[in-house]
Amino acid sequence: MKTRVSMELVINPVHKLQGTLAVPGDKSISHRAVMLGALAQGITEIDNFLMGEDCLATVQCFKALGVNIEGPVAGKLRIYGVGLHGLREPAEVLDAGNSGTTTRLLMGILAGQPFCSVLTGDQSLRGRPMARVTAPLTEMGAVFLGRQRNNLLPMAVRGGRLQPLHYQSPVASAQVKSAILLAGLYAAGETSVTEPSRSRDHTERMLQAFGAAVKVTGNTVTLQGLPRLTGQQITVPGDISSAAFLLVAAAIRPGSRVRLTGVGINPTRDGLLQVLKQMGANAEIINERQQGGEPVADIIITGSKLQGTRIAGSLIPRLIDEIPVLAVAAAYAEGLTEIRDAAELKVKESNRIATVAGELRKFGADIEELPDGLLIRGGRPLTGTTCESYGDHRIAMAMAVAGLGARGQTVIRGAQCIPVSFPGFSDALKLLSVQ
Ligand code: S3P
Repeated sequence: MKTRVSMELVINPVHKLQGTLAVPGDKSISHRAVMLGALAQGITEIDNFLMGEDCLATVQCFKALGVNIEGPVAGKLRIYGVGLHGLREPAEVLDAGNSGTTTRLLMGILAGQPFCSVLTGDQSLRGRPMARVTAPLTEMGAVFLGRQRNNLLPMAVRGGRLQPLHYQSPVASAQVKSAILLAGLYAAGETSVTEPSRSRDHTERMLQAFGAAVKVTGNTVTLQGLPRLTGQQITVPGDISSAAFLLVAAAIRPGSRVRLTGVGINPTRDGLLQVLKQMGANAEIINERQQGGEPVADIIITGSKLQGTRIAGSLIPRLIDEIPVLAVAAAYAEGLTEIRDAAELKVKESNRIATVAGELRKFGADIEELPDGLLIRGGRPLTGTTCESYGDHRIAMAMAVAGLGARGQTVIRGAQCIPVSFPGFSDALKLLSVQ
């Protein structure tokens, strides 16, 4: 297990943000490209792959499962696919690091393998609930052995012959949906997942691009098992969840104008743009195009005075990872922002209801924790402070954004987690900052 030295990120207030930048590749799509590339026949080449630690953990796991992968070097990766039935029993424990996506999607794939594997991760990941995937995968025929009734890592998986499943998921989670669909690749017949509201659909889109038969009806996705997957060329769009930090940083500083190029604007991921507009921000989408089955565009944002808003219901899965930084936008906005139906925040890399509220309060923000969200009374002047990341990359970056508009200096402790999803974050801020 890796131990890392603690790092601090020092943030000084900025007058405004200005300039043009391409954010790193999408984390969710980078993971899926490696996984499907490994299970396909033939070569998959990936460009603009996210060189973040989460996605590198996925690459390591597939190397340990016997897949020949060249790279990644400077965002380029070449995978020699082994086909659906070509993975090999790993001789080592598979270490997913901090990555819930690596773990849960991999569990779906391992459920269909005729061998035994063991998965673990860092302290945060070892505390995150896995029964949401091990329970349905057990129904399909896989055998799991883990702490707390197969809920916590480390977890042993004995895969085997799987039955198809029609699963009604209690949570809108792309990780749950994807784990079942990936297991469904190994079950003869139709496997389906129905969600309470639609979560990100990258798995469905990419399975189709690789040649699987996938049908989407309302909130139900159905996959035909045992397809032949064929290697693809994939250019990963920029990650809207990374763009979010820069978009909010510009939106809260009047006079700012930032253009982010080639950002993924998949409608299951673009809730942040809708909310920023609701709050009165000026976000313009230009140069819209398709890239490997995903919509991408350039986003131009200008800073302005923001208003509080309500974020709830089916909007939540469309911006779940952006809530920490949206809470920062709300603290700088005039009036009340109410975030509801977001209890899932409690089981992310940290309990984000508690960590967002606790850290923003240190700046002087008026923020209240709810069982399923947050109440933020915006408009109080914020003062720079010392924050903790709690090992959560999105908490570290959200608090850095809060510091940009505060009076005085802010220090983010535990900032070494930022490259989990956004290597180069502080350079990006420096490049765009006008003091
Ligand atoms: C992800 C799904 C979401 C998200 C995570 C990435 C994915 O998690 O929060 O950062 O790539 O499928 P849930 O499926 O738990 O909502």
